[in-house]
This record gives sequence, structure tokens and C-alpha cells, in this order.
Amino acid sequence: MRFTLRVWRQKDARDPGRFETYEVVDVVPDMSFLEVLDKVNEDLIRRGQDAIAFDSDCREGICGTCCIMVDGRAHGRLHGTTVCELRMRAFRDGDTITAEPFRARPFPVVKDLMIDRSIFDTIIQAGGYVSIGTGAASDANAIPVTKEAAERAMDSAQCIGCGACVASCPNAAAMLFTSAKLAHLSTLPQGRVEWRYRVLEMVEAMNSAGFGNCSNHGECEAACPKQIKLTDIAQMNRQFLFSSAFTKREKAETS
Ligand code: FES
Repeated sequence: MRFTLRVWRQKDARDPGRFETYEVVDVVPDMSFLEVLDKVNEDLIRRGQDAIAFDSDCREGICGTCCIMVDGRAHGRLHGTTVCELRMRAFRDGDTITAEPFRARPFPVVKDLMIDRSIFDTIIQAGGYVSIGTGAASDANAIPVTKEAAERAMDSAQCIGCGACVASCPNAAAMLFTSAKLAHLSTLPQGRVEWRYRVLEMVEAMNSAGFGNCSNHGECEAACPKQIKLTDIAQMNRQFLFSSAFTKREKAETS
């Protein structure tokens, strides 16, 4: 297979950036899109030119670092896959493919296709953990968890924090990401203890980071490689409303 790649090249966050075109031949259908970029880079390096910068770590859909818009869609045209899992058999021989970084103000471009998603860490640090003392490892069945709750928590815990939800949303909202983190913790008994404070702190961190708000567009759910559901956002909104009212009443009673 052969392809024409239009790749976004940008030296740093201040550089306006531009598309550059590369022809790539002898592509095997089972190669991933990242392997095609590797192939282009090998050629660029051989010619003494600057290689295309992009992130990847696991290359099996686990780490969430391969944040690339392929033909205008976060992670490309296949549903429920990351770019590292996007095989070239999904394209037609001779296609022109456009690759650019995820674009959202809270995700500045570092170089070419690499973006800085460390703002997600700030949201996690605001409450995306369980802070109660759990002591030594206890017997697995000491805290009963229903099968339904375990499955529900695991569905949300699949979020790999890639940022596809933000990149796809017209408002650059991070509500699918934040709500998935909240849902997987608050669904389990260990995390339910502090859910009221967690939801306020994480939503506050998300808003301060400059992300927009959900307007039920649904692009985030469609683009999410782990198929996190919009129902997580609905649950976060309900918990936020309840918790805001509860905290206000608590303050009034103690003042
Ligand atoms: S490189 Fe880890 S998810 Fe793609």
C-alpha cells in the first residue's frame, strides 16, 4: 500500500505550524498508523531531517499517550480504538491521510503531534484518589461489592486519560474524563466515603483549568477509545448539585 501523509509540523507552542506532505510506500496493511509514522521518521533521519515528534508508550491501547487527530477525528475513523491500534487496512490504498495534534487550549502543542496533557494530572490531584486509611491488604471478600457495582466501576475505570473527549468536543469540555474518574471511585464502597468533597474539588479543578462545559453534543462518547458513556457525566452533574447544596447547608449549620 502507498499513502500520502499530511502531517502537522510545529517547532514549539509559539510556532504557528504548518502541514507538510510525505509520500510513504511499501506499507503493510497490518501496520499501525504509528508504525507508518516510524517509517516516515526513519526516512527523515536518514536524510538528516527533523523527525516527526509524537507520543506513544504501550502501543496497545493502554497508556493513552498517542493523541493524534487522524482525518479530523480523535484516534481516527475506527470506533473504540486508539491511534496505536489503528491498522492501515482501515484505509484505501493511495489515500491521503491528515494527522494533526489534539487541539484544545488546555492542551498546548509541545512539538508537531505532541501535546501537553498534564492539566489532567491537576484534576486527578484535586481528588481522584481514595484517601482513607485502608490498612494492610485485607481479605478480598472483606468488603462486599456487588457484581453490578464492580462492573459499573470497571467500565468507568477504563478511561486512559487520552484527551480524545476534549479534542472532539466543540466546547473542549473535559467532563467525560472527570466524570469517569469520579464514577469509578464513587461506585465502590472504598471510594464512596468521600465522594461529596471529591466531586466539588475535581469539578472546581476542571473549571479552573479552562475546559468548557458539556452541551450534550455527544462527540466525546463517540470518540472515546474506551467507550465511556455520557451517563457518567449525568451522574457527575447530579452528585455536584447534591453536594453543593449539602455543603452550603453544612456551612450554614456550623456558622
Ligand atoms: S501508545 Fe498507549 S494507548 Fe496508544
